[in-house]
Amino acid sequence: MKNEYIPHLAIIESIQKESLDTKTFKLVFEDKALAASFDYKPGQFVQVSLLGVGEAPISITSCPSQKGFLELTIRAVGKLTQAIYQLEPGDRIYIRGPYGNSFPFEEVAGKDLYFVAGGIGLPPLRSVIKSVFDRRGDFGKIKILYGAKTPYELCFKEEIEPWSQMDDTEVLLTVDEPDESWEGNVGVVTTLWDKTNMTTSCGVAFVCGPPVMIRFVIKKLLESGFKDENIYITLERYMKCGIGKCGHCNIGGKFVCIDGPVFSYSQLKKFPEKEMAIA
Ligand SMILES: Cc1cc2nc3c(=O)[nH]c(=O)nc-3n(C[C@H](O)[C@H](O)[C@H](O)COP(=O)(O)OP(=O)(O)OC[C@H]3O[C@@H](n4cnc5c(N)ncnc54)[C@H](O)[C@@H]3O)c2cc1C
Ligand code: FES
Repeated sequence: MKNEYIPHLAIIESIQKESLDTKTFKLVFEDKALAASFDYKPGQFVQVSLLGVGEAPISITSCPSQKGFLELTIRAVGKLTQAIYQLEPGDRIYIRGPYGNSFPFEEVAGKDLYFVAGGIGLPPLRSVIKSVFDRRGDFGKIKILYGAKTPYELCFKEEIEPWSQMDDTEVLLTVDEPDESWEGNVGVVTTLWDKTNMTTSCGVAFVCGPPVMIRFVIKKLLESGFKDENIYITLERYMKCGIGKCGHCNIGGKFVCIDGPVFSYSQLKKFPEKEMAIA
């Protein structure tokens, strides 16, 4: 019988440094057949492990249409992620998954899409953003609002400028603490509402970031006319198994690992307030 807990060996092909504590790792499965067939959807995550160190859920940041590799953006916050941060190209890492649900994609065809991210919240959204750009003609206008603490902590700096050149696409950046070179907006991500028209009755929003940011962004989106069911948030919860067996990620009777990590605000607001990091 197949053991769902046995991970697959992947080799780190290349590493992109995003900031002082964050790197993007491009991984290729050692098993060539698996590398060719590995399929996932934007918003899904994998369980990443290092032997003798630990295992953690990490969102897939690459675009499913780019076959043969997987990209993960990882912030060094603890035992495992700090160990991964030290790895070099050619080193080995273990992956199982993909797990969880995904952002709606086909369902939002034809709609205006609004992406709102804070800090390390952009990596999961990048998978959807790249998928949408792959099929640019199938969607309405796109707005990407992205904030970080400092200019250095903005992820995917090289990619963001080309995104803003795409048809009918607006990218707005902000930082809390500017340096001398920063000419853009200063303030939390919700201050970008003053820089663009966010009013809509049928737009769809994708949100990812720290709990406090999510709380204020949802408030702004609702004030701008977004409907509860058109606001999608990806949640982070402590996980163990990642496959609905251990109960660690339980919230309001749902398991974040299988029912999420993506939830609509209609679902989220039914969760008990005391269990919600964003409430
Ligand atoms: C669905 C999902 C997707 C994620 N995607 C990413 C991603 O793309 N990139 C990324 O860098 N991180 C991501 N995370 C968070 C990542 O899983 C944790 O940072 C990781 O578990 C830390 O492991 P560690 O052994 O390095 O830290 P530990 O040594 O276990 O802990 C270090 C610190 O982080 C806190 N912590 C640990 N795990 C979590 C958690 N799940 N939620 C909140 N606080 C936690 C601990 O309380 C402690 O303060 C995601 C989490 C989930 C649930
Ligand atoms: S992590 Fe085990 S049930 Fe979700």
